[in-house]
Amino acid sequence: MAFPYTNLTLFLSLLSLSTLSLALSLSAFSPVDIYLFDCGSTVDSTFDDGRRFVPDSSTSARSVSLRNQNPNPNSPQIYQTARVFRRPSKYEFQIHDPGTQMVRLHFQGFNSCNFDWNSAQFQVLVNGFVVLKVNNFGFGGVLGPMIKEYLIWVGTGKLVIRFVPDKKSSFAFVNAIEVVSAPKDLVADTAMYVSDGKVVGFDGLAKQALQVVHRVNVGGHKVTPFNDSLWRTWITDEEFFDSGFGSERVYFGGRIKYQDGGASREVGPDNVYNSARLIRSTNASIPNVNMTWVFPAVGGYKYLVRMHFCDFASTSLGLLYFNVYVNGNLAYEDLDLSKAANYMLASPFYADFVVDGDDLDSLTVSVGPSNASVPYAIDGILNGIEIMKLNNSVGSLDGEHCAEWVLRSWPRGHVSLLVPLVAAACVLLSLSMVTRRRIMRKKESVAWTKLPVDVSEVNAKHGNIHQSDILEST
Ligand SMILES: *[C@@H]1O[C@H](CO)[C@@H](O)[C@H](O)[C@H]1NC(C)=O
Ligand SMILES: *[C@@H]1O[C@H](CO)[C@@H](O)[C@H](O)[C@H]1NC(C)=O
Ligand SMILES: *[C@@H]1O[C@H](CO)[C@@H](O)[C@H](O)[C@H]1NC(C)=O
Ligand SMILES: *[C@@H]1O[C@H](CO)[C@@H](O)[C@H](O)[C@H]1NC(C)=O
Ligand SMILES: *[C@@H]1O[C@H](CO)[C@@H](O)[C@H](O)[C@H]1NC(C)=O
Repeated sequence: MAFPYTNLTLFLSLLSLSTLSLALSLSAFSPVDIYLFDCGSTVDSTFDDGRRFVPDSSTSARSVSLRNQNPNPNSPQIYQTARVFRRPSKYEFQIHDPGTQMVRLHFQGFNSCNFDWNSAQFQVLVNGFVVLKVNNFGFGGVLGPMIKEYLIWVGTGKLVIRFVPDKKSSFAFVNAIEVVSAPKDLVADTAMYVSDGKVVGFDGLAKQALQVVHRVNVGGHKVTPFNDSLWRTWITDEEFFDSGFGSERVYFGGRIKYQDGGASREVGPDNVYNSARLIRSTNASIPNVNMTWVFPAVGGYKYLVRMHFCDFASTSLGLLYFNVYVNGNLAYEDLDLSKAANYMLASPFYADFVVDGDDLDSLTVSVGPSNASVPYAIDGILNGIEIMKLNNSVGSLDGEHCAEWVLRSWPRGHVSLLVPLVAAACVLLSLSMVTRRRIMRKKESVAWTKLPVDVSEVNAKHGNIHQSDILEST
């Protein structure tokens, strides 16, 4: 097997950069745009991580606000109310910082005499992408809330979230919405595309719609939004770890050395990089084992596999070399973490791999010793894994219908006349998206604001939220 070393090396040097300056970035990330809405509520709710969600003001009689009459006292306040849509409706958010936006949607059904949560059937669209299809939600009395997270590129102007019920007898709902501008280094545009024993460059990653499907802190504890500067949740890896031998779990009490050009604290927080699982050689032989994780995945999509590494366990530089496999394919041979982390221990590094999930129902990630591994040393390490789904060729993260089709399928009279046009519209849509990006104007940069942002002020100032019937809007 021949691997294109040039590509890998180029990628490696792009990530590790040769700058020597340590980014002692202790200042917290402050997004340009941050919208936190507690839908259907009339009062602010404060989350346990300190963030304040404000009510979504409705100017339309087409939606209904609902309050849970029997709230679970242990459930956060944002899940006690919901906004219910009987017709296609949308939220619009002004985006002042073009680039990747992080969108989180919270869903938690509850008992209500007016709405049977089993008949909630709807799709959610974000800026021309179909991101979610919900069927028979159920009211989830025992189940926790369903939280969906997306990374969507917005070149200019607005981010629009549409809720489209499947038919007149069904409805859509949402409990809370987060729209936050992502840091510029969160989604690099280039990754390594791993398929059938080949590794080649993959460009244009940043402009795909991404859905985070798994986010795992390897070897460590669950990380809650409280300890993550982008308010993410990282769960433990036990349910995915699939190796027969006893790998070692390790913790690090020292400081994680974030460097300029390497993984930043926004890419992965301290609590992810300071725990790991590793393979250790304790005698003259190198263990012939892999550490393997298996993740459920839906076929028919490409996936981005982001692996987080931080070598705080080696006794010195230049001792840790290992292979990385994705779906059984050698994705990175002889990964030299010292070099990748610019010759500094306890300094984080991540690698992005894109894989085809055509006929998959699971995705495997393995780390094991390589030909360059040395005895009496660490011979493999992994600190975190993120798995993100890429939109398919019709621009959907959930099904085979494009956004235009979903919008047109809302029953309103001459549907049958429209159906033949829909396929053409899908094609035109993707063409127009390309064109629009080309003619996209650069916006003036907006000064960064300090957290916590007074969202209600932002709300009033920019009039960021409107709900209206999409069929009446242009
Ligand atoms: C945040 O991280 C610290 C340090 O690891 C830990 O002690 C604390 O329990 C965490 N807090 C939450 C709310 O997860
Ligand atoms: C090294 O240690 C492993 C287990 O720790 C053992 O299985 C193996 O036989 C040892 N090899 C040698 C050469 O002692
Ligand atoms: C580790 O995994 C790779 C990819 O699946 C495989 O080719 C290799 O044989 C495995 N090594 C061991 C020791 O199981
Ligand atoms: C390691 O070395 C062996 C023998 O020289 C070679 O066949 C193999 O391709 C090398 N690489 C890996 C990943 O095993
Ligand atoms: C995602 O959608 C965009 C726009 O519709 C399209 O250009 C791109 O090819 C899609 N991605 C994949 C992996 O098909």
